Amino acid sequence: MTKKATLEVNGQKYEFPLSTGTENEVAININALRATTGGVTTIDPGFKNTGSCKSGITFLDGEKGILRYRGYSIEELAEKANFLEVAYLLIFGELPTKEEFDKFHADIKSKSIVDDDIRKIVDAFPKSAHPMGVLSSLTSALTAFNPTSVNVDSEEDMYKSVVRILGKFPVLVAWTLRKKEGLPLDYGDNNLGYVQNVLKMMFKKPNEEYQQNPIIVNALNKLLILHADHEQNCSTSTVRIVGSSHAGLFASLSAGISALWGPLHGGANQAVLEMLEAIKEDGGDTKKYMAKAKDKNDPFRLMGFGHRVYKNFDPRAKIIKVAADEVLEDLGVEDPILDIAKGLEQEALKDSYFVDRKLYPNVDFYSGIIYRAMGIPLDMFTVMFALGRLPGWIGQWREMRLNKEPIGRPRQLYVGETYRQFKPLEKR
Ligand code: CMC
Repeated sequence: MTKKATLEVNGQKYEFPLSTGTENEVAININALRATTGGVTTIDPGFKNTGSCKSGITFLDGEKGILRYRGYSIEELAEKANFLEVAYLLIFGELPTKEEFDKFHADIKSKSIVDDDIRKIVDAFPKSAHPMGVLSSLTSALTAFNPTSVNVDSEEDMYKSVVRILGKFPVLVAWTLRKKEGLPLDYGDNNLGYVQNVLKMMFKKPNEEYQQNPIIVNALNKLLILHADHEQNCSTSTVRIVGSSHAGLFASLSAGISALWGPLHGGANQAVLEMLEAIKEDGGDTKKYMAKAKDKNDPFRLMGFGHRVYKNFDPRAKIIKVAADEVLEDLGVEDPILDIAKGLEQEALKDSYFVDRKLYPNVDFYSGIIYRAMGIPLDMFTVMFALGRLPGWIGQWREMRLNKEPIGRPRQLYVGETYRQFKPLEKR
């Protein structure tokens, strides 16, 4: 028997089918709601209860603190995989064989040249420009240099667009940083692994050899994997909704980067460090800031705390906290900010305001501490998040196009003025 949900609207009963996911999640399928009820809609600001799609990429259980990419646990992937393998997994659905991996990496390298004219666009930005604004613009500009649209019915065409953006994006990330630092805009080194190449492109000085530090390579690999996908979050939903109008991949990604920039989403990693710095400058009184976070008349929020979906713990935060300890110790960095972060976490874990609202440290609470130890400037933190999230965005865009999803176009409940007659300017 098909399972159904019954809805009663003004005394009239309607039935809607239930859809069940592979992890036994249940959703009421309201596709026929407006048609059968004569125009009734649902309203759900922030989409707190609304599924926008069926997806086979990432599963997360916010109550149990589970995160899996294509069925593999985030803990295992962060420990054992490299970022490019995870990218392949997210985009194409399976871990690559050695042969597939080598071909994938070689294809990415072969597409890693960014048209030299893009330098002129980079040059036009002031050094003070926020790197996320620059990155979003440069990603959008790629469309102008690669104007052919992707034929989504061709696997080959889809594959080409995937390797093209995975090759060019790290160059844009590096140029964004180098512009800020006043360094020449270089290309990468195709003899290196993906993550090593990113680091070299970002940090190589024109007058010195770049020495790879395995601690930093491992830490960045882990951070990128932890950020690689997170199902239908704000930026991913943006990528899918922009792409649903059949806008190109680069344009959709550029919109996703803008969505990620905000401090309630990816921008939180920068906001966390700014907050920890401010607390340190103010004498390190964590209790004062805990009180501010709880005061409803104070707009201050404890950045890096809380999550729309995780209501127990964020599994990524657990891994990052351990990694932060290791990286700082391995690099011999003593950062008083880490003690402030740990102090805030300890207080929040026993404070009823945070416990009752299920507010725990999220992925961004400790990531900035690692980025800082790696020598990455504060306003580049969210750019690093974008680099990690890229395969997730691509995989979600690809899935959306392959599933031939309709254009994303929500409804609304109109609460404005009813009809009014126009009054000429002189009579108002
Ligand atoms: N500090 C103090 N109070 C908070 C916080 C916080 N960080 N987060 C939520 N609350 C309170 C909020 O005021 C509300 O209280 P009340 O029920 O009394 O009105 C309650 O907790 C529920 O909050 P909400 O804003 O309705 O929850 P949400 O699911 O809409 O928002 C969030 C989730 C992540 C936007 C929010 O927790 C937040 O603003 N956190 C700080 C920013 C942050 O760290 N963002 C990174 C998210 S993880 C990385 C990513 O995926 O981008």
